[in-house]
Amino acid sequence: MRAEDTPLIRLEDYRPSDWLIDTVDLDISLAPQQTRVRALLGLRPNPAGQPGAPLILDGDELVLSEIKLDGATLDASAFTAGPQSLTVHAPPRRGFTLTIETVLDPSANTKLMGLYRSSKVYCTQCEADGFRRITYFLDRPDVMSVYTVRLEAAKAEAPVLLSNGNRVATGEVSGSDRHFAVWHDPHPKPAYLFALVGGALDHVREDYVTADGQQVELAVYVEPGKAGRAGWALDSLVRCMRWDERVFGRNYDLDVFNVVAVSDFNMGAMENKGLNIFNDKYVLADPQTATDGDYASIEAIIAHEYFHNWTGNRITCRDWFQLCLKEGLTVFRDQEFSADERSRPVKRIADVRTLRATQFSEDAGPLAHPVRPRAYKEINNFYTPTVYEKGAEVIRMLKVLIGADAFKRGMDLYFERCDGTAATIEEFLACFAESSGKDLSHFARWYEQAGTPTIVASGRYDARAKRYTLDLAQTTPPTPGQTTKQPVVLPVALGLVGRDGDLPLTTGSSAYADDGLIVLDRPSLSVVFSDVAEAPIPSLLRGFSAPVRLELDLSDADLLRLFSADSDSFNRWQALQSVATRALVAAGRPGTDGAVLLAKAAEIAGALDRFLREQGLADPAFAAQVLRLPAPADIAREIGGDVDPDAIYGAHRSLSGAIGQALEATLVGLRDTLAKKAAYAPDAASAGRRALRNEALGLIAIAAPEAGARLVEQQFSSADNLTDRLAALAAMTLIPGDAREHLIGRFAEIYASEPLVLDKWLMAQALIAEPGTLDRVKRLMQNKAFSLGNPNRVRALIGGFAANLTQFNRADGAGYEFVADMVIALDRTNPQVASRLLGSFKSWKMLEPVRKDLAQASLALVARTPGLSRDVADIAERALA
Ligand code: PHE
Ligand code: ZN
Repeated sequence: MRAEDTPLIRLEDYRPSDWLIDTVDLDISLAPQQTRVRALLGLRPNPAGQPGAPLILDGDELVLSEIKLDGATLDASAFTAGPQSLTVHAPPRRGFTLTIETVLDPSANTKLMGLYRSSKVYCTQCEADGFRRITYFLDRPDVMSVYTVRLEAAKAEAPVLLSNGNRVATGEVSGSDRHFAVWHDPHPKPAYLFALVGGALDHVREDYVTADGQQVELAVYVEPGKAGRAGWALDSLVRCMRWDERVFGRNYDLDVFNVVAVSDFNMGAMENKGLNIFNDKYVLADPQTATDGDYASIEAIIAHEYFHNWTGNRITCRDWFQLCLKEGLTVFRDQEFSADERSRPVKRIADVRTLRATQFSEDAGPLAHPVRPRAYKEINNFYTPTVYEKGAEVIRMLKVLIGADAFKRGMDLYFERCDGTAATIEEFLACFAESSGKDLSHFARWYEQAGTPTIVASGRYDARAKRYTLDLAQTTPPTPGQTTKQPVVLPVALGLVGRDGDLPLTTGSSAYADDGLIVLDRPSLSVVFSDVAEAPIPSLLRGFSAPVRLELDLSDADLLRLFSADSDSFNRWQALQSVATRALVAAGRPGTDGAVLLAKAAEIAGALDRFLREQGLADPAFAAQVLRLPAPADIAREIGGDVDPDAIYGAHRSLSGAIGQALEATLVGLRDTLAKKAAYAPDAASAGRRALRNEALGLIAIAAPEAGARLVEQQFSSADNLTDRLAALAAMTLIPGDAREHLIGRFAEIYASEPLVLDKWLMAQALIAEPGTLDRVKRLMQNKAFSLGNPNRVRALIGGFAANLTQFNRADGAGYEFVADMVIALDRTNPQVASRLLGSFKSWKMLEPVRKDLAQASLALVARTPGLSRDVADIAERALA
């Protein structure tokens, strides 16, 4: 497939389906190589479609073995069947049934889309368009059907048989070693939410009663022997169900809710109705095999998929252009859940770090696209940080702009009005326009316009008049296909910080609320605050109220004052990040003077020292975030062009080293004080103490390798949990030498039978910022811990390497060549994994000329490869454009 040959699908071309499918009866007889699927579809003409249109069903690599219309075998001339579609030329102009039989080979399905086998477990993945790999269908989200599914399999091979909805029958198939289960899902749903699971699985379960009194049986299914690691997921499920009842008024709506963990999965997890299927990485947890970060991700992703039951399933998307309708909103909901369960400011900081690292970098490069794309060639390439994370930011801004009450009323209206439908962004926004009485047409531009806006802010204080004037201006850089940009609606939450904290805000202007919110909805604007008793320092974008870059004309001294005095935790953290970013941007340009950076390091270290001594123990999770500098990749993005990764990494290393040296005594003392007393518990407070201790360990390792190596050794040997062990390993990867290699070996021995832990081991090595890493990665590909067929292994080792700023971007181009070769190899078996890996090239255009040419050559090599999947061809084409 060459990308140029693939049709572009456009939002403006949306037309309702000519046919609807009200009911689907599936009879699936599972066998490893020969699974028989019999589908009985109840069809009728769509009143909104073209009368008399042919029936064209989607397929993908399908083999038809039988077709009947209203029970009678169809004449060969009445239909055309190929692997990619099935057309009934002149169907009756009334309701009728179609019986279609297809035969599949789940064992040969390496794309992990449709029905496949993962470690002997049958499972499905149908979003976005995998259902058409199971049977011919109108595989589009606005065709919603009631499903009844009979599953049959050998009892020994698949004692557990699950599908969507409620189980209505089970039994033995007489005279055979087979059994069956029948599932019925009363809620009409699009095909992408269909799922089945069959296998020998263990489970943990719990009874749940919804707020409206419905009894629900919850269960988490895992590979045999792993039930001991399913408890946290189940616990998270119960908590998020209660939260959705309390905060969004949403109750669950079936008798059962099942979660299944599988070990081969292209994405994180999938919200199939009543049967969520998960990458096992986001289910399995115990203190020995999961880190604090894993516990937090599991909690968040369990919640995310569960929340989709309302935002995604009950209300689904009219078409895939509306993907952010379910994803952005559901990410917002899971972020809020985690914020309530843990620390709100720390969660916000972590989310903003991710947003900047993934979405801002996407928005700054050739793959930039709006939150609601206008056109696509391959929808699987649009499950992006822009649709998900920026999509969530848009919802967050909406809430800030219209206020929590109107937001709540708008959500209620949306649930009421759109329940059972396949909706659009317009319908969603209309609910909030109505609930708030505000015109949201300008706000809607967030869905159409790509690129990260920059706000330039400057302020003046007139001491005599006691007036403070704040000038704000916005611009958005051009992105592919959008050369000129319009202003967007930017909620700027702010405060004016004086010597003793926040000053009262008086503008006397009704356009700008005096309660700390400026709405910058035009190219520029000035706000005058009166009765300002002293020269203030503006604290802008509190809580990161808009997903923008901010250019502030504050001195480092002012920023350091905000760091100690701002009432907004996010901006305290941001202030110090800004000081460090500024220093690193200056030092990251080749040929800059190291002495300036060292002077800045002393200043930052001084502020940190005071902070750690006075407040380090008050909120260790926050302190850990404060201690962590912006990543080298953030600095590269901030520099934006002619980027030399080695110079940036070098600057980062010297700044960290200098800070670490200045703080060594404080950090060692802090680590002792924080040393654990109780047994491991995954709660946020305990995790925060470990995070701070381990952040300190990393700095010590850079600043004082010998002392660092000793601490690593101690921590590794005495740890009773993976978090501390892995942090020790990660710190040790910063210290070249035999001791490191020895520790890497020890780690592998301890976790030899734990693939998910070894993924972290693979990744830690892939991230080493040394020239030997490429060879190491190639060597590790031969290790038995690695497999090109498993997405988690590939993301850990190859994806880890592609995220290694200095080594992926080696000056000799060998990093690009390696990743390009891997993309080409993977594309033959799993195009989705391959195209995600190719996305690692998204920032190539900002590199200095030598690397830029080399990266382009590798991309071009991929683009030229014959027989590429649509997934990879599309990314290659857009990346090169
Ligand atoms: N819809 C899933 C989620 O966000 C993600 C996903 C997309 C999973 C496509 C598989 C395939 O929760
Ligand atoms: Zn989702």
